[in-house]
Amino acid sequence: MKRFLIFAVAAASAGFIAVSTASDANALDIDDYPADVPASGIGKTRHNLGALGMHRIADGDPGTTEICVFCHTPHHANVDGFAAGEKAPLWNRTNATGSYTPYGTTLNGTEVQQVGGATLACLSCHDGITTFDNLVNAPGKGLNTGSQGWQFNEDGDPIDNYINGGRLAIGTDLRDDHPVSITYIAPRASLRDPDTRFDEINLTSDVFSTTHDAVSSGGNLTQNRWAVNGYICADCTISSLLRNGKVECSSCHDPHFANKSWDEVEDTWGSEAEADGMFLRRVGGNTGSGLCKTCHAK
Ligand code: HEC
Ligand code: HEC
Ligand code: HEC
Ligand code: HEC
Repeated sequence: MKRFLIFAVAAASAGFIAVSTASDANALDIDDYPADVPASGIGKTRHNLGALGMHRIADGDPGTTEICVFCHTPHHANVDGFAAGEKAPLWNRTNATGSYTPYGTTLNGTEVQQVGGATLACLSCHDGITTFDNLVNAPGKGLNTGSQGWQFNEDGDPIDNYINGGRLAIGTDLRDDHPVSITYIAPRASLRDPDTRFDEINLTSDVFSTTHDAVSSGGNLTQNRWAVNGYICADCTISSLLRNGKVECSSCHDPHFANKSWDEVEDTWGSEAEADGMFLRRVGGNTGSGLCKTCHAK
């Protein structure tokens, strides 16, 4: 926790909102996420679309305060059209309406022609078409499948019920995105053996500067922990990031994890209340390209 205090001082002196004391385990605080703590905090992220959330929230009339319902339901979940394990669990969204263009066939001929379930899950909001309230099982009695007609607001003003362009719209054309639904086959593209443990990967041995805080302070470049199945894990393997052996959106992102890593040098933590750390799974985000270098031995 000493590291936490050093970081708090640095953040305060840089003019950002000071973080509170090290003993406060509140998910809003910049944290160093030791192994085995939950990768939690969705309530205070952009992925809380309920009336108690931030930014785009269903606080009109009608609306809802539920958080999970935008993605999960305890009963009557959507399993249509996918093999077991392909779909995100207890999925509460109707199949995404977009028609997607996959990354392309240039990598290995045949494999990048489909879009997998874990990626379709994200695209069911990030395609820039599908509405947020397009649910299979609405809150309360009955199913009420389909668009709920909820009014979304931001700072009290009416706002679109879908992602309307900008940085958050990944869109329907996936040719300009890191390959997804691509089978992970080492050693292609210098990929590491999928059985490699995160803590076996030394991310600093090949960097020039060892005096930068990210390296010399024992920061998040000298440790390699990732959110896996909802917990921070140091000794899980690359294969734990794959879905049916493939890279999907959720290989790099955990949609529940308010990633406020204490040593993240990018500005995702710049404004504390706004920081989701891009929902990246890696503690420290992509500091020193540690996220990329975990899979790619470059
Ligand atoms: C924005 C969409 C979204 C919201 C909101 C959401 N989830 Fe998820 N959840 C997902 C996706 C997508 C997966 C599959 C992730 C993967 O492939 O690793 C998932 C997986 C899970 C899992 C399986 C293990 C894990 O953590 O990866 C649990 C448990 C879970 N969610 C619980 C919840 C609960 C409880 C809530 C509400 C507090 C919630 N989720 C809100 C999208 C969401
Ligand atoms: C229920 C709809 C929904 C689903 C499903 C969903 N998202 Fe989001 N996501 C949103 C909204 C809404 C925002 C923020 C909107 C805003 O800030 O105006 C957002 C924001 C984000 C951000 C930006 C976070 C930041 O730090 O600024 C990332 C990254 C992201 N989502 C990734 C994902 C990934 C990956 C998945 C699938 C695992 C996913 N989302 C699934 C609705 C969704
Ligand atoms: C190989 C890892 C990887 C995969 C796979 C991946 N992302 Fe990302 N994503 C990242 C990184 C790293 C960032 C932060 C980029 C930056 O700093 O500009 C990011 C940023 C984002 C953002 C925020 C963009 C911004 O500039 O604010 C969204 C939204 C997002 N991802 C959604 C998705 C969705 C949806 C998918 C699946 C189609 C996906 N990601 C697949 C690594 C990945
Ligand atoms: C979860 C593992 C994983 C992570 C993390 C990851 N990649 Fe990849 N990347 C892959 C796989 C798998 C391929 C497909 C390689 C193949 O089959 O030839 C790939 C391919 C690529 C390619 C080659 C695309 C082509 O058309 O030849 C580039 C460039 C790339 N990744 C860059 C990045 C960058 C930059 C990051 C960090 C933002 C990153 N990757 C993170 C797994 C990963």
